[in-house]
Amino acid sequence: MCGIVGAIGERNVTDVLIEGLRRLEYRGYDSAGLAVVDQGAVVRERQPGKVQALADAAHAADVHGRLGIAHTRWATHGAPTQCNAHPHMSGDIAVVHNGIIENYESLRERLQGEGYVFTSQTDTEVVAHLIQSELKQGGDYFQAVRRAVAQLHGAFALGIVRACEPDRLLAVRQGSPLVVGLGIGENFISSDQLALLPVTNRFIYLEEGDFIELARNRVSIWNAAGEPVRRPAVELDATLHASSKGGYKHYMLKEIYEQPAAVQRTLNGRISDGRVAVDAFGPQAAELLAKARHIQILACGTSYHAGYVAKYWFEAIAGVSCHVEVASEFRYRTTVLPADTLIVTISQSGETADTLAALREVKARALGALCICNVPTSTLVRESDLAFITHAGPEIGVASTKAFTTQLVALMLLVLATGRRQGTLSAERERDIVQQLGTLPALLDGVLALDKDIERIAEEFGEKHHTLFLGRGAQYPVAMEGALKLKEISYIHAEAYPAGELKHGPLALVDNDMPVVAVAPKNDLIDKLKSNLQEVRARAGVLYVFADHAADVRPEAGIKVFPMPSVADEVAPIVYTVPLQLLSYHVAVIKGTDVDQPRNLAKSVTVE
Ligand code: AGP
Repeated sequence: MCGIVGAIGERNVTDVLIEGLRRLEYRGYDSAGLAVVDQGAVVRERQPGKVQALADAAHAADVHGRLGIAHTRWATHGAPTQCNAHPHMSGDIAVVHNGIIENYESLRERLQGEGYVFTSQTDTEVVAHLIQSELKQGGDYFQAVRRAVAQLHGAFALGIVRACEPDRLLAVRQGSPLVVGLGIGENFISSDQLALLPVTNRFIYLEEGDFIELARNRVSIWNAAGEPVRRPAVELDATLHASSKGGYKHYMLKEIYEQPAAVQRTLNGRISDGRVAVDAFGPQAAELLAKARHIQILACGTSYHAGYVAKYWFEAIAGVSCHVEVASEFRYRTTVLPADTLIVTISQSGETADTLAALREVKARALGALCICNVPTSTLVRESDLAFITHAGPEIGVASTKAFTTQLVALMLLVLATGRRQGTLSAERERDIVQQLGTLPALLDGVLALDKDIERIAEEFGEKHHTLFLGRGAQYPVAMEGALKLKEISYIHAEAYPAGELKHGPLALVDNDMPVVAVAPKNDLIDKLKSNLQEVRARAGVLYVFADHAADVRPEAGIKVFPMPSVADEVAPIVYTVPLQLLSYHVAVIKGTDVDQPRNLAKSVTVE
């Protein structure tokens, strides 16, 4: 999704801006641009395509200056062309913008009436002209920007520079992420702190509605009410954020292989005496978990699939009713919450616009809000009553992998803690499941050893246009996650079904050109699932089955079986996720797609 970097310093900031944009590339974008203030003029470069094209153009033109803003754009309003790339300008004003200006059409009409000429199809260009229009009404630059921002509706973050103001970078955070990075004699803004790690590890996390003025030696902040405020600076352990491919061909593969260690980190410090540590979810958790009569999980994409697995666990293990819904639907429908509902949001980034909006909509009606998140400094963590940090480490590949498996571990810990507080789970069963969780790193290592076998069969998917994924019980959301992985990085259409639904429609799709992937651990439903697989085989569908020895799925013509380790039913979804990640990865490599930055997608979806 779009990214912002801004800098003011004593040195030429062009390289800081470009390096910052490079670090935001993983989020997904389709054009890039920058503007620096140099000797009373704004110098702008914009390029469709990769940041490298922008870097080449900026260096060829010797763009330099001590104040600048830069942007990677993920097209929403208008195609990914040079004209639509940010920064957008009006006279001597340049603006970069993340988010959406909802009232841009009426503002555009009004500004066109005032004689402003638009050169892009974006909603952003109105901001530049609106500031210019306000400047013409009189008053100083700062007040003009404030008046302009007050007229904008929607969720946005802005960075603004002006040719005749070489000592000020103005910025606004209103619904889209923005942080301030603090340097010595230089200061920065970015939509993602990762962009600024080469230049600082000290950050100020802004609140909604904050208005910021950066000078070289000063950061001034006003809150939504216009009052000057001080926000604390936080120092990050930069080593935690090291992000390189470490010898792997893609971040996604590296992150798949990091899962044994990531899962171990999620468990570290959360287990005490063979049970979930009392304060693993924070000091007030004990009371909230004891009182909760219902759990409402809200999330998007992969995080939603993690929540879907947890729904099975909450009801089967903790005996607490649980609903799960995609946040983009929940936020806009009229919802009835059962009394004493605990909201559980799940998000890798903690910045997903729909998840945040759903939380804000429901929070006042709920018993409390707990989030499971990978980014401790995120908006979601700050706006929740309780937060559990997964410690997966930075996830750069757009396709979520280690974020998902660590979310599942976190959710299982939450289920156990809830069962204990509700008195519905025996200490013995809790210890047994905790012990199973402890075996996960070794089990995942075992599954990763299947990599070469999976790579070999991936060839068979390369020419296919559709694939079905089947599972039953808590393995159904694992199948959903497998289908999402395949479609997002290999662009092969993939659907997941609970296998019992096959004969209610999707069986009509099955023929010898339709690969069908099934996750089939030995459990109470294995015989039912095997009957469903026979239904596929009888229609000449080709089956790829991940099954353990006890499941007793026999390989034969048209049925390939991948031997999975024996694993307890409760943690099987975590283990069976990994071969599906590997499958989609190898299919994407064979198809030659952009594995880490698949087309049209963004890592962190900060607009709805
Ligand atoms: C899946 O691989 C994607 N990365 C996507 O579905 C993602 O899970 C979704 O956008 C939610 O993101 P979040 O976990 O950061 O909230």
